Amino acid sequence: MTTHYLVRPARSVHGELRVPGDKSISHRALMLGAIADGPSAISGFLAGEDCLATLSALMALGVGVQRPAPTEVLVHGAGHHGLLAAAGALDMGNAGTAIRLLMGLLAGQRFDSTLIGDASLMRRPMERVATPLRAMGARIETADGRPPVRIHGGAALSGIDYALPMASAQVKSALLLAALYAHGTTQVTEPAPTRDHTERMLRGFGVDVTSTGGRVSLAGGQRLTGCRIAVPGDFSSAAFFIVAGCLAAHQGLTLRDVGVNPTRTGLLQMLRLMGADIELVPHGAGAPEPIADIHVRASALRGIEVPQALVALAIDEFPAFFIAAAAAEGQTTVTGAAELRVKESDRLAVMASGLGALGIECQLLEDGLRIRGGRMSGGRIDSHGDHRIAMAFAVASLVASGPIEIADVANVATSFPDFPRLARAAGLDL
Ligand code: S3P
Repeated sequence: MTTHYLVRPARSVHGELRVPGDKSISHRALMLGAIADGPSAISGFLAGEDCLATLSALMALGVGVQRPAPTEVLVHGAGHHGLLAAAGALDMGNAGTAIRLLMGLLAGQRFDSTLIGDASLMRRPMERVATPLRAMGARIETADGRPPVRIHGGAALSGIDYALPMASAQVKSALLLAALYAHGTTQVTEPAPTRDHTERMLRGFGVDVTSTGGRVSLAGGQRLTGCRIAVPGDFSSAAFFIVAGCLAAHQGLTLRDVGVNPTRTGLLQMLRLMGADIELVPHGAGAPEPIADIHVRASALRGIEVPQALVALAIDEFPAFFIAAAAAEGQTTVTGAAELRVKESDRLAVMASGLGALGIECQLLEDGLRIRGGRMSGGRIDSHGDHRIAMAFAVASLVASGPIEIADVANVATSFPDFPRLARAAGLDL
């Protein structure tokens, strides 16, 4: 297992790449397929550790699964009440999406479940999901707000009308999954739009979900019908190469077949405000998920104040974005991004210390970061086991004056196992 990267300065990226399947959509495809009536065929599945943790958990819950190829999964739906008690605790590894969505799904079952994870996941907040699930009637315990999460089965759930205190697609999705098992209608209101893959995919499985004015509602008791799901390329994985392209694609760089759901692509708007040269060529039907080829060309970037409305739409892209900000001329400020402190690592603190190690002036704010763009040196970075931090600093090598050594990178395999190979193909010296 690769535990660290040594990335030497390279000055250009180029060519055409295809990033692996979307992580958020892969998790959802497995879970919805598992409770559907009949089989579901998933293509373009992300064979990363996070999604494989979901796959193992569903198998432990009695779901039949075949994998004719690493990126193809046939899920034999167990039906609305077909899941069975697992023999032990379900270990979700590093996967926040998996544990939180499964909390919702398992709250409505007739058996007990326990969810655990790796050291990072065991530190992450779970009450944001447990609290509204309890309001629906679920019986759930957390350990001081963190895993292990113990779910007592057999609870009668009722629909609720819930206003999310934070913009979180994981919490929204967990409630929608529990809502399938609840009596009456559940309504979830978001403070800002977040990724809507669950809503789109539920419709594909035949569920009636309505979304209007920031409110999603779903009537309980609806059954899912198995279907085909083609998972698009993960925009969040493409993001590292989009930033790399902005910094060093002097002849252009193309990313093929990337999911460009507007609830995911805030990074494109942020980079364009900085002066980036990015072109999207949409193809496919646009439903249920829009897909495009993304063409990027290097350009001079200027610092910006990140508009609040874009923060939730780029929530996973900030590690990569901060590298762009560090390479830009002038100052970039992000606020309203306190959620970054409770990701796989405290991404505000870890990015600030990493950028500091490369000689970039950076001010850590309570809910954001202020970065003064400048010349980056080489240096030593600790990714704190956070896949996106590791990949972001690999991209920084395109503008650094010396080698960057990045420690604790094994978790890149959670979302993008092929990153080193694709990074080298694009021109990084990793
Ligand atoms: C995700 C939602 C986001 C995101 C995560 C994936 C999802 O988390 O950061 O990587 O698939 O629903 P939050 O819901 O905590 O914002």
